[in-house]
Amino acid sequence: MGVGFYVTAILLAVATAVTACPPSDRAALLAFRAALHEPYLGIFDTWTGTDCCHNWYGVSCDPETRRVADINLRGESEDPIFEKAHRTGFMTGSISPAVCQLDRLSSLTIADWKGISGPIPRCITSLPFLRILDLIGNRITGAIPASIGMLRDLTVLNVADNIITGPIPLSIVNLGRLMHLDLRNNKISGQLPSQLGRLRMLSRALLSGNQITGKIPISIANIYRLSDLDLSRNRISGQIPDIFVRMPVLSTLNLDGNMIAGQIPPSLLKSGVSILNLSRNGLEGMIPDEFGPRSYFTVIDLSYNKLSGPIPHSISVASYIGHLDLAHNQLCGPIPSGAPFDHLDASSFVYNSCLCGKPLKSC
Ligand SMILES: *[C@@H]1O[C@H](CO)[C@@H](O)[C@H](O)[C@H]1NC(C)=O
Repeated sequence: MGVGFYVTAILLAVATAVTACPPSDRAALLAFRAALHEPYLGIFDTWTGTDCCHNWYGVSCDPETRRVADINLRGESEDPIFEKAHRTGFMTGSISPAVCQLDRLSSLTIADWKGISGPIPRCITSLPFLRILDLIGNRITGAIPASIGMLRDLTVLNVADNIITGPIPLSIVNLGRLMHLDLRNNKISGQLPSQLGRLRMLSRALLSGNQITGKIPISIANIYRLSDLDLSRNRISGQIPDIFVRMPVLSTLNLDGNMIAGQIPPSLLKSGVSILNLSRNGLEGMIPDEFGPRSYFTVIDLSYNKLSGPIPHSISVASYIGHLDLAHNQLCGPIPSGAPFDHLDASSFVYNSCLCGKPLKSC
């Protein structure tokens, strides 16, 4: 046999060793699968054979190292497997800590399976390359791991629509790359970390529908990339800090359904915010007469507060006001005519002390 044979044999051996997924990654995936039960679609039927990088549904590997890099299991998707079954996904069971043995994992998405319960494994915070953790739409309980701040590469943290309790871990402020934080609709309690402003890369902070107490931290003003802040339907108290005018790209500010008191900061009406919902709080005093040509609101909802005095004249100077809701306050006086008032109906003005004029009764 010539040299050529040996060379070919060695190349073949090397190629096989490089393409198959490591047995330890395969074993971790099988242990992860064993803790889940997916009765309708059979997605785990594809998890067979020795090469977990090849055709295992929702699993992908780094092409060079052949280590498992992504687990992407979505219960609501347009994948043919769902269309064939004519249904969305449903899965029970829990997320096995075995997933933490996949120490090259960069994204872990287990979304919208509706029935997965149990906690987020605490060991998840030891995955050094994790960038995306998306567990939206399950029945996950327990707290966000206290050491979440160890995930220095994390850009997306989405655990919305679960049953998560406990506080927002203080360590979260160490997630210097975090861009998208979605904790909506859980049972998270405690206060917002006062150092939240250290999340310099954050562009969306969605925390509505929890049991968060305390004040809005003024450090938020430092998050100059923040475009969407949703703190609605919590138990936030204190006043609206006068910081939002300093935030260059903030366009949506939802603080509705809290226990916020005091007055509306005048500068807020001249800021870049275009969707503003302050409904259902304890705001009082007058609506500041500070609208200007820069004021552009697709939505401004101030309903269900204790605002008094007249509707400010400057509102007609605003460049645009789409939906305006002032109902259920203590406002008084004539409703101005002209834009934006000509396209609003009575429901925007009802239940006030003595507003009058079109579209209400004449004065
Ligand atoms: C503002 O928030 C209230 C209370 O959460 C909600 O009912 C209302 O629909 C919101 N307004 C708009 C215009 O979305």
